[in-house]
Amino acid sequence: MKRMNIAFFASHGGSNFQAIVESIKSGNIEANASLLISNNSDCYAFERAKALGVPYRHISSAQFDYSDDFNQELLNVLNRFEIDLIVLAGYMRKIPQVLIKKYKNRILNIHPALLPKYGGKGMYGMNVHNAVYEAKESKSGATVHLVSEEYDEGRILKQLEITIEPEDNPEKIAEKVLAVEHILYTETIKDIVNGTIKLD
Ligand code: GRF
Repeated sequence: MKRMNIAFFASHGGSNFQAIVESIKSGNIEANASLLISNNSDCYAFERAKALGVPYRHISSAQFDYSDDFNQELLNVLNRFEIDLIVLAGYMRKIPQVLIKKYKNRILNIHPALLPKYGGKGMYGMNVHNAVYEAKESKSGATVHLVSEEYDEGRILKQLEITIEPEDNPEKIAEKVLAVEHILYTETIKDIVNGTIKLD
């Protein structure tokens, strides 16, 4: 069977990107880490891509006069690399509708909370962990879901929980969640590739 070609989208650190690529390289996930796309030319994820030998492209809407041209460039590059699955790993831009249509049920995102709680507009990064902390939750976690037209509302594919201890501050919650994200994202992609999770 043909190996799936995966494109990653990241804006900053790229620790999830690295965890998944390492899992692919170790043979745990039988797919190709084909491409990393970022809107941020300074992102640390590019350093990781260089070290891991994954091709990377800087594609930002600021490079184009019209959003249609930006969208078209994204589509062209994904097409050129024959991408089957798009993995959003800390990508801080909204995904254009044309991409969501073209890659229907083929775009994954990871959210640092147990959706449907603590999702939606403005719920990203430390905003999520601060809200979880303020609400005195005893658990949080991560969610991998399909990307649909609305923020954080696509079908949930898999979740992993962490326990919040009374002494944990928002930074500690963030650290615990990020650690399980790497496990969760890797396992979810493995399940998709081997057919345990069906996307259609
Ligand atoms: C993660 O917390 C993820 O849930 C969110 O963005 C962060 C990305 O972290 N979508 P990294 O760039 O993979 O280290």
